Amino acid sequence: MTTYLCSLCGLGAPVATASWRCPRCQGPWDLGFTADPVPAAELPGRVNSLWRYREALPLTAPTVSLGEGRTPLVPLTAHVSAKLDYLMPTLSFKDRGAVMLAELARTLAPRRVIADSSGNAGTSVAAYCARAGLPCTVYVPEGTSAKKCEQIRAHGARLETVPGDRETTAEAARAAAGTPGTFYASHVYNPYFLHGTKTYVYELWEDLGGTLPDTLVLPVGNGTLLLGAALAVGELYEHGLITRRPTLTAVQAEAAAPLAAAFHAGADDLLDDGPAIGPTLAEGIAIPRPPRARAILRAVRESGGTFLTVPEDRVRAAQRDLAARGLFVEATGVACWAAAGDRTEGTAVVPLCGAGAKTGLV
Ligand SMILES: Cc1ncc(COP(=O)(O)O)c(C=O)c1O
Ligand SMILES: [Zn+2]
Repeated sequence: MTTYLCSLCGLGAPVATASWRCPRCQGPWDLGFTADPVPAAELPGRVNSLWRYREALPLTAPTVSLGEGRTPLVPLTAHVSAKLDYLMPTLSFKDRGAVMLAELARTLAPRRVIADSSGNAGTSVAAYCARAGLPCTVYVPEGTSAKKCEQIRAHGARLETVPGDRETTAEAARAAAGTPGTFYASHVYNPYFLHGTKTYVYELWEDLGGTLPDTLVLPVGNGTLLLGAALAVGELYEHGLITRRPTLTAVQAEAAAPLAAAFHAGADDLLDDGPAIGPTLAEGIAIPRPPRARAILRAVRESGGTFLTVPEDRVRAAQRDLAARGLFVEATGVACWAAAGDRTEGTAVVPLCGAGAKTGLV
């Protein structure tokens, strides 16, 4: 039986009965799961979705798949390629994780599923719950882009708009999570989500012929893509499927950079007197207190990578620059290109992880 293990204190609990976070220390769960090696030679004959990496996944018999995964890798400069994760069923990378949460929810058969989100994760959970026939409520902060709200409602989910910032929205969801019969499909606390996002790296590894670039540039709000990427890199390396691990280059908006500040201060957790968190065009990565901060800081440090921050004018310019190259990406999704598009050495991959139609041109 698969178990959760607390990422902070190590407490274990069975997945079927556990609450959504560690009851002892309130830490987010990790998953007591060991991936098997993915057989590269067998991949070409397999299903054309992220489920082709089944040896590496904690759930393997998908019933609610929408064909997620296998997004294109497109060279943009001599040094930087982009992985077009905005070409997912709900137009963001969150589908990689949300499909895992929906599969899990289906087996647990709750009366309703809830999620909180800056928009994209909630959209994704709403879509997969629709596919699974599960009632869903999504909590979003006021000011969430109208298109994301429309997308959530279109999937039949109930939308709860919460006054205040992203943290207030998370509190509202946490309060509702205790209601009997509720499955809290938290992309932040539930580790199945990370075992979905890790397929981003398995796809790169397959597309690059069994190698990875020198650096993976990754946006970080709650760090679900970064932590998934770190999981995959670790698995591929342990299985002898790569001989060299890429560095992880984490990207935050300059206006909302609590992790970058902690990293550059040499801290292993968020700073008590960290920087103020202001509004940013990159709404999806404006997270004041990410619960997995320690794991994110450790993963970036252990990879030999670093944190970069991008000012608002570079976000705006990067969105226009990508659109001029034929790629229309939402403001949050251009942050990595804004941070690393001008690299002049080595190889880097940036995710373009949300579609431009979700926010329009900012
Ligand atoms: C387009 C986009 N990029 C990046 C992120 C950041 O993901 P995370 O908060 O898991 O780091 C989000 C989160 O909503 C997003 O919507
Ligand atoms: Zn704990």
